Amino acid sequence: MNDVIDDRQVLSSPLSTMLIDQALNRIKGGSMGISFSEPEKLKEIFDGPNRSQWQGTEYILSSLAIRKDDIIADVGAGTGYFSRLFAERVTQGKVYSIDAEPNMVSYMKQRFSTSFENVQVIQSEPDNPHIPADTKLVFIANTYRFIEDRMRFLSNLKSQTSPTTRFVVIDIKGNRGQVPSDKAISEWENAGFMVEIFDEDGCPEHFILIMSHQQ
Ligand SMILES: C[S@@+](CC[C@H](N)C(=O)[O-])C[C@H]1O[C@@H](n2cnc3c(N)ncnc32)[C@H](O)[C@@H]1O
Repeated sequence: MNDVIDDRQVLSSPLSTMLIDQALNRIKGGSMGISFSEPEKLKEIFDGPNRSQWQGTEYILSSLAIRKDDIIADVGAGTGYFSRLFAERVTQGKVYSIDAEPNMVSYMKQRFSTSFENVQVIQSEPDNPHIPADTKLVFIANTYRFIEDRMRFLSNLKSQTSPTTRFVVIDIKGNRGQVPSDKAISEWENAGFMVEIFDEDGCPEHFILIMSHQQ
């Protein structure tokens, strides 16, 4: 994936932008272009010291009610920020860390190969998430808005999962996001999913959508 994206698309909100400005300026000398093909640079943002603050990480983890034996597919896993947190919790389960960007996949393979036996890194395609059949929870954080052909992606996602699979989407709330929550909900519903929980109060800058297949 060669998409060059704008800082403001990575984390486009006043609080997170403020918190990451310093890191971005250090990484890029203040330029606005950034690409997902540069994990070594992006780790400073994605795994930065303020992440849990602007992300509301603890709240998200508690909302997921993760079980020890869960099998979680972290789609658009990036540098593996959430994958690591999941891996620590699913001690009898598994984490599939999935990304369409080959450099992110290589980075995560290195990151997790010696630290977590329960993480498997998977190279996906932009419109095909390649979800393994035993997945119980599909987690998509800060990624949905970057998927170009979302209808095709969702159609593949639906056919690769089952009525018992849960789906979680975390993205920027309000009109600052490229795909605001009402648009995301409508796209998922049109693709055959139904919303179980829509939470836009728990995290400082992100909404949480929890969904399943339509009955
Ligand atoms: C902003 S990063 C978020 C990373 C991680 N989820 C996090 O919250 O720290 C977005 C990630 O999604 C990946 N991505 C973008 N479009 C994708 C797609 N269609 N399928 C899978 N991954 C995708 C990018 O390569 C990048 O690693």
